[in-house]
Amino acid sequence: MGEPRHAAETMIEVEDLQLRYADERVLDGLSLRVPRGGSLAIIGPSGCGKSSLLCILAGLIQPTGGRVRIGGEPVERPRPDVALILQETGLLPWKTVWQNATLGLPLRQAGVLKRVKRALRDLGLEGLERRYPAQLSGGEKKRVSLARALAQDARVLLMDEPLAALDALTKEHTQNLVLKLWKRHGFTLVLVTHDIEEAVFLGQRIAVLSPRPARLVALVENPGVGTEDYRQSEAFFAKVREVRALLQLQEPPLVPRLRAPSK
Ligand SMILES: Nc1ncnc2c1ncn2[C@@H]1O[C@H](COP(=O)(O)OP(=O)(O)OP(=O)(O)O)[C@@H](O)[C@H]1O
Ligand SMILES: [Mg+2]
Repeated sequence: MGEPRHAAETMIEVEDLQLRYADERVLDGLSLRVPRGGSLAIIGPSGCGKSSLLCILAGLIQPTGGRVRIGGEPVERPRPDVALILQETGLLPWKTVWQNATLGLPLRQAGVLKRVKRALRDLGLEGLERRYPAQLSGGEKKRVSLARALAQDARVLLMDEPLAALDALTKEHTQNLVLKLWKRHGFTLVLVTHDIEEAVFLGQRIAVLSPRPARLVALVENPGVGTEDYRQSEAFFAKVREVRALLQLQEPPLVPRLRAPSK
């Protein structure tokens, strides 16, 4: 209502974000925008604050400064239109695939049951509904957590290293699946990853972060995402090299600099 048009096109808006844990600065003035239906990959050194950033976007922790808006609304608590897939899959081991995929969903509400069934079918999990996580492969577990996010029908999907533990082939297959689902469902995707090729395959923009406290050191435009055979193309490899070079600039020295002992 009465909002300027450009604001309506932005789904996620992060402005001058600050986060401290006790006296440790984790995020230092981070600003980012993701357009509605767009995808952003976030890559940066271990411990720089990527998971913390996703938790802020998911409304699970409050920043110590700055602003976060999703769909024009300040993020103050977890919301059903924002789904988070954690670094670990986040499945409950004592619940079945079906119970995990429907966790917290209003199953009696019109359309919800159909959505869950469709998500399980799309992710190739049909027939596995009664199994427990311990009876699934790593890739299947990741797909259950994806199914849960899809069934939630979220407008924003936040993924924290969701595919890290998978073998190369399963990982590629699951990345293809994520791309297909993103194209089909039109959600806004934010993906945190250590994997440069994954970032280039899925992120229309790639945010490269500095070591802690995380600052944005580069925002790489990656318009090839979703084009036919992108993974095989020269443009893809060029982008991988570009991001790798930016990351190498961020690497901390192998031997940490000695600090004066604090008194
Ligand atoms: N609840 C907490 N209290 C205090 N410090 C924390 C807390 N959670 C995270 N940290 C610290 O904040 C920093 C950023 O953590 P975060 O998990 O966001 O990093 P990350 O970039 O996701 O790392 P990785 O790539 O290894 O997953 C780390 O130094 C971590 O030890
Ligand atoms: Mg993390």
